Amino acid sequence: MHNHLTDISNILVIGCGGAGLRAAIEVKLSGLSVKVLGKRSKVDSHTSLAAGGINAAFANVDVQDSWEQHFADTFLEGYGLGHPKQIEILAKESPAAVEEIEKWGANFAKLQNGKLDQRFFGAHTYRRTCYSGDYTGQSILQALLRKSKLLDIPIYDSQYVTDLLIKDNCCFGAMSFNTINGERTIHLADAVIICTGGHTRIWKKSSSRMQENTGDGYYLSLKVGCKLIDMEMVQFHPTGMVLPEEIAGTLVTEAVRGEGGILRNGEGERFMVKYDSERMELSTRDRVAIANYTEIMEGRSSPNGGVYLDISHKDKDFIINKIPKIYRKFIDTQLLDISKEPMEVAPTAHYSMGGIMVNAEDHSTNVRGLYAAGEVAGGLHGANRLGGNSLGEVLVFGRLAGKAAVKYSKNLAFQIRSFESLKDAHESIDIFIKKGDLLVRPLQNELSEIMWNFCGVVKNKEKLEKGLERIKILKEEVKNIDVRIEDNNYQDLVNIFDLEASICSGEASIRSSINRNESRGSHQREDFPETSNNYALNYVTSMGADKELSVESQDILNLDDALKEIILSTETIKIMQDRLLE
Ligand code: FUM
Repeated sequence: MHNHLTDISNILVIGCGGAGLRAAIEVKLSGLSVKVLGKRSKVDSHTSLAAGGINAAFANVDVQDSWEQHFADTFLEGYGLGHPKQIEILAKESPAAVEEIEKWGANFAKLQNGKLDQRFFGAHTYRRTCYSGDYTGQSILQALLRKSKLLDIPIYDSQYVTDLLIKDNCCFGAMSFNTINGERTIHLADAVIICTGGHTRIWKKSSSRMQENTGDGYYLSLKVGCKLIDMEMVQFHPTGMVLPEEIAGTLVTEAVRGEGGILRNGEGERFMVKYDSERMELSTRDRVAIANYTEIMEGRSSPNGGVYLDISHKDKDFIINKIPKIYRKFIDTQLLDISKEPMEVAPTAHYSMGGIMVNAEDHSTNVRGLYAAGEVAGGLHGANRLGGNSLGEVLVFGRLAGKAAVKYSKNLAFQIRSFESLKDAHESIDIFIKKGDLLVRPLQNELSEIMWNFCGVVKNKEKLEKGLERIKILKEEVKNIDVRIEDNNYQDLVNIFDLEASICSGEASIRSSINRNESRGSHQREDFPETSNNYALNYVTSMGADKELSVESQDILNLDDALKEIILSTETIKIMQDRLLE
């Protein structure tokens, strides 16, 4: 067997973004040992890009707000596919999570009375999004890193996890290699928590950066028997940058619209009136994304193929105070002063609403000792995520997964491990290291074209089937990739693992999309434009022993009477436009 280091902790966390760090903190506070692995720099995980805010029904600005209304907004705007219990937990526990992270140092904007300010975000009935300018994720991540340091939590970045270790449907650790020197480590643990983010980097235009959100967690978990839910539900954020080409897709935060930004097409028309005359620019993400896409596709685009997003009617100091990063980004990359001129924006792949199927309450999976939290986990958002719910999700469910893993570890009388599993984990790395005729990068590029062109903002059967055929070709081509290992250069190996995970998770999204013959939320089919009651169900993806993916439907969970009553009694008529004019 190949050499490896061996390391032991009670709990292993894979992923050093918000969910991973919050889970690790919970474990450490319980007195058990924990270790965090990340493939990228811990100070720059994807959480740092979350911009506009985190939702918590404090009712600091709109006194009528309540956790019940947060629940109702999230459930209804997810088109009934979200797991009611998961949503209830998020809505109830977000305020405590925000208070806690503030105590740990996140610098949220405050009202004059000292309470946290709350801004509008799309499709929330009330102002409930707490924020730090437009760098809320960064502020939260820094607070989590500070707390982790105080607690002496070991965080190893530059560790690429290639396999989970399993014996008799029980997870006992993971294999990783060091992305700088190639050294392999077997991490033995009582339980493992996956917090590796989603897969939206695999679309050509994406708000993620290179080598993040490549679907790693989906692939790792499918290989050991987990299931994925709602993989067809991929959120396109309506406003990604159009220029410069190299960073096209970069997020232009919803906070721009939350603070009064207006969308216009190339003909100067404020077109949202045609798509949602009540909520206008603060409609749900799926509706605004479709609106932007339609205006562009029907020939009413701005000069560079987007639509205009304009906040120049607001005072310059207000703009710099509320959205400082966006203000600077446009100056730095386009020499554009957004306090004077409109931005050009277009839809960009932003968030994987589907993910690993978990138990709503403790985020355990169907593999014993394996948990998932954050974007990699599915079930919460249904067919459309409300902006600002993901930062709440990472804190609330990171904590709960950590707590559940601790309980599991403390109750574990003994653990079965397997040499066979270690041997397989080595082999699955060795098999890639060989000379071949193809390079990874062109194949990654091909995948991003496939996802964008055939499984994009608007899909149809023909496109999806064509996309699936091309994915099958890619799967064959991966076998012939040139992977060279040199001292201090293991990038080829990183790239091929990323690519395998990306192809698998892309295939899961295409296969689920083929099954859903309707349009619902972020899943828009031009051949089935209506939402159909026949499809009030979830699609679940599994991997067979032959490594092939299959998709089957599963009944959605009905609301219990208490939650149904909440939906009926809360305000479902949106009043945000009136409020904006105040
Ligand atoms: O637009 C944004 O600031 C994104 C927020 C979110 O996705 O939650």
